[in-house]
Amino acid sequence: MKTFILSAIILLMFGIILPTSVVCAADAAELYVKLTCNTCHGLDGKGMVRTETKEKYYLRKKKMYKQMVKDGMPVDIVKKLQPLYKKKFKGKDDFIKAIEGHIGLADTEKYKDIVVKIGGRIYYHKGDLIPGFEDYPMHAGNKKLYLYYQMKDILEGKRTNGNSEAMRGIKPFIDNNHITDDDYMSIAEYLSNVKVVK
Ligand code: HEC
Repeated sequence: MKTFILSAIILLMFGIILPTSVVCAADAAELYVKLTCNTCHGLDGKGMVRTETKEKYYLRKKKMYKQMVKDGMPVDIVKKLQPLYKKKFKGKDDFIKAIEGHIGLADTEKYKDIVVKIGGRIYYHKGDLIPGFEDYPMHAGNKKLYLYYQMKDILEGKRTNGNSEAMRGIKPFIDNNHITDDDYMSIAEYLSNVKVVK
């Protein structure tokens, strides 16, 4: 009876501990994120690119109003835009809507290009490479076996060229999660199946 209870307890403990430490090969996409691969190779191995556009629109400087006049907008219309002074807009559409609220649709159509050019700041576009990752590889759609051997060679220290040292920083994650060859293969398969739209 005692041994039965003991083994029941042990089984129960395994039941609790095992699911967190042994990762199922089928969850390759999850594993890819759990092992932080995405922080260097991007979402689904598509590379470290911006996932959205960062832009701002505002007319918070006097010289912007002066520039509008210089670029050919009538002074009375430019004056109508003064309530927008210091307001910030995240998207171009909101900005244009606000402009329209002050000068009407017809003049907005006429002058929006000038106002957007002067009041718009685009920091980066969706799809732009994130600085610092220009020479990091993408994996999406690459050959499964190639990806498999390269990730193993890098992590096992057989491939030491280029920036591969950076990747070996994840060795502790690999060890702590008891990653097997099957896991590597399932990650390689998942990445090779990601469709890339060019
Ligand atoms: C800290 C950044 C970093 C992390 C995290 C990282 N890698 Fe890498 N990986 C790199 C770099 C940098 C290279 C390119 C090495 C070189 O220049 O030779 C690379 C190369 C590779 C390659 C070879 C690509 C090729 O075209 O030859 C594969 C496959 C790969 N990584 C998969 C992974 C997987 C899977 C993970 C997660 C388990 C991962 N990497 C985590 C930085 C990283």
